[in-house]
Amino acid sequence: MTEERVISANKPNEKSDHKKRNFIRLNFNERVQHMIFLICFIILALTGFMIKLPEDIVSKFGEAKTVVFYYRGILHRIAGVTMILVSLYHVFYLLFKPAGRRWLVDMLPKLKDLHDMLGTMLYYVRLREKPPEYDRFYYKQKMEYGALIAGATLMSVTGLLLWTEQMWPKFILDIAIIVHGMEAILACLAIMVWHMYEVHLKPRKFPIDNLWITGVIDEEEMMEEFPLHYKKIMADPDLQKIFVQQEKEEVRRPRRIFARGSQ
Ligand code: HEM
Repeated sequence: MTEERVISANKPNEKSDHKKRNFIRLNFNERVQHMIFLICFIILALTGFMIKLPEDIVSKFGEAKTVVFYYRGILHRIAGVTMILVSLYHVFYLLFKPAGRRWLVDMLPKLKDLHDMLGTMLYYVRLREKPPEYDRFYYKQKMEYGALIAGATLMSVTGLLLWTEQMWPKFILDIAIIVHGMEAILACLAIMVWHMYEVHLKPRKFPIDNLWITGVIDEEEMMEEFPLHYKKIMADPDLQKIFVQQEKEEVRRPRRIFARGSQ
């Protein structure tokens, strides 16, 4: 074995020796809530907008049309009830779980959000050198979260009204069907344009941000996107226990003792 090969065999594997620091943005519970909501939303949008399909497309189902549309209605209701249940659980989570209460406090609108919004606009038009330092959630995320709560409430209430139509006067049902249909379009647009662009289509994230599966972001992104929150975490060991995920030391791959091709 040449001297060069011995040195390379004993050199520590830089990748496995470096401990990566990741920051938790969504804990396991929050990721499960997000996943259930996401699945329900997709089923609701597909089975809901099926009603709007033009007759010539519906006629392609042929004999199966009645059965397909029967199960469409059932699936829409099952997904609707599941979405309502996960939304109610979310309220319980916000009020009664420590992580939920922290989420609620951090998500509540504050005066700083107004300053941040103004500061960001000034930064966009180059009247300010640096963007404002965002905390755990910034104003756009808070607005989207608020829109989600309002949208889910409207859809749930109007959906339940339509489901129990025999109990309500016609004018209530007329309003419910308009609100349910319009809000469905708005919700789908908000997800496809706003959420997709803000979360997944960002230059560093494209084509998808895996945060909804992994729950974490790396230190570099944390410092760039949420600098104030980063500083707070680094200054407080209690917050570090909550938000910093120390990756388990990677199991070291057996070092290559011999360079390729050597005997
Ligand atoms: C994001 C969530 C939802 C979306 C995108 C959605 C979408 C839609 C759409 C597009 C329609 C057709 C409206 C029209 O004819 O103008 C519809 C109808 C309906 N939706 Fe929803 N919906 C959602 C949530 C719910 C919920 C939570 C419930 C109740 C549990 C529900 C129950 C109904 C009912 C009963 C109808 C009447 C038509 C039918 O019999 O299926 N929906 N929905």
